[in-house]
Amino acid sequence: MVALIPVGIAGSGSYMPEKVLSNEDLERMVNTSDEWIRDRTGISERRIAAADEDSGSMGARAAERALADAGVDAADVDLLLCATTTPDMPFPATACHIQEHIGAMSAGGFDINSACSGFVFAFNTAVQYVATGAYRNVLVVGTEKLSTITNWEDRDTCVIFGDGAGAMLLRPLDDAGRGEVVSTSMHIKGGNDDVLSVPAGGSRRPASVETVTAREHTMRMGGSKVYRFAVSTFVRLVRDSLEEHGLDQLGMIVPHQVNQRIIESALEKLDLPREAAWSIIDRVGNTAAASIPMTFDDAYRNDALPKGKLICNIAFGAGLSWGHFLVRW
Ligand code: UT7
Repeated sequence: MVALIPVGIAGSGSYMPEKVLSNEDLERMVNTSDEWIRDRTGISERRIAAADEDSGSMGARAAERALADAGVDAADVDLLLCATTTPDMPFPATACHIQEHIGAMSAGGFDINSACSGFVFAFNTAVQYVATGAYRNVLVVGTEKLSTITNWEDRDTCVIFGDGAGAMLLRPLDDAGRGEVVSTSMHIKGGNDDVLSVPAGGSRRPASVETVTAREHTMRMGGSKVYRFAVSTFVRLVRDSLEEHGLDQLGMIVPHQVNQRIIESALEKLDLPREAAWSIIDRVGNTAAASIPMTFDDAYRNDALPKGKLICNIAFGAGLSWGHFLVRW
């Protein structure tokens, strides 16, 4: 049997595009109000990538910050995993674009798409490579330009999503010195395209004049189904992952930034205070695969991750898909 090597988080970084789209801006675009958006989602503003930015270039900025934080050169990255729902192109992998941007020319790599759970799944994949000794420096990036798959005339969805990127560098714990990975999980449950999907643009329904006219290249969402699934999954992931450690070991929950009401309703069911989960949703909205590393990075840079305690990172989204990674900080 292979003796597994403990894995740690050596570096963290994130990137937010400059342009802010406020609720007031949205009031001028669709029939909505600042009050409705704040009350129902907790979002005040979100970031929108510039025309010359893409998921690859934003991911590269976050990756550079994670490498700088770890004090590791891009040239020493062995593997680069990119989680995204909005790749730069159907192929090549956005990981190739990030590699070129940052100069990680010795790295292997590929993309992982599991919508909002994508970063957690990519992180969990990266852990396997470090734990088996296959690679030492594994860069995991979550990046999204969701503004390109948003229907800006659909008030049900356009108020929720935003653009951005986050990244982490995983190394053997001895090199990383912190953030020991304690447990991970990944789950999918197909047959739920009606809950959240982009219907066209893939092999099932390729791009055509009809699909473009019907805006089938943008997100379709059954908001209330996502809502119920998100609350119950949040609760289950936290309970299950902390079961053998005890809730008193919890330092911070870093949840997918799905909706502040969902986060608070789940915390209430867990009998945990509002401060138990870090939240940046008011400033960035829901950034899908970029959500967890952006939120983690914000908590990290605000010195909000208690040393020696467990940080419970949880994500859930289209697929359905859900999973977690638990680290001792
Ligand atoms: O990562 C997973 C991605 N998915 C999500 O993040 C979405 C999760 N779901 C949610 O966040 C919530 O379900 C929403 C925020 C999407 C909706 O909140 P809700 O409390 O479930 O509202 P609702 O869908 O029950 O709609 C209530 C009303 C409806 O009007 P009527 O039928 O009661 O007259 C909607 O048409 O609110 C209306 N509405 C809006 N009004 C103003 C829906 N969107 C808007 C809007 N502005 N932007």
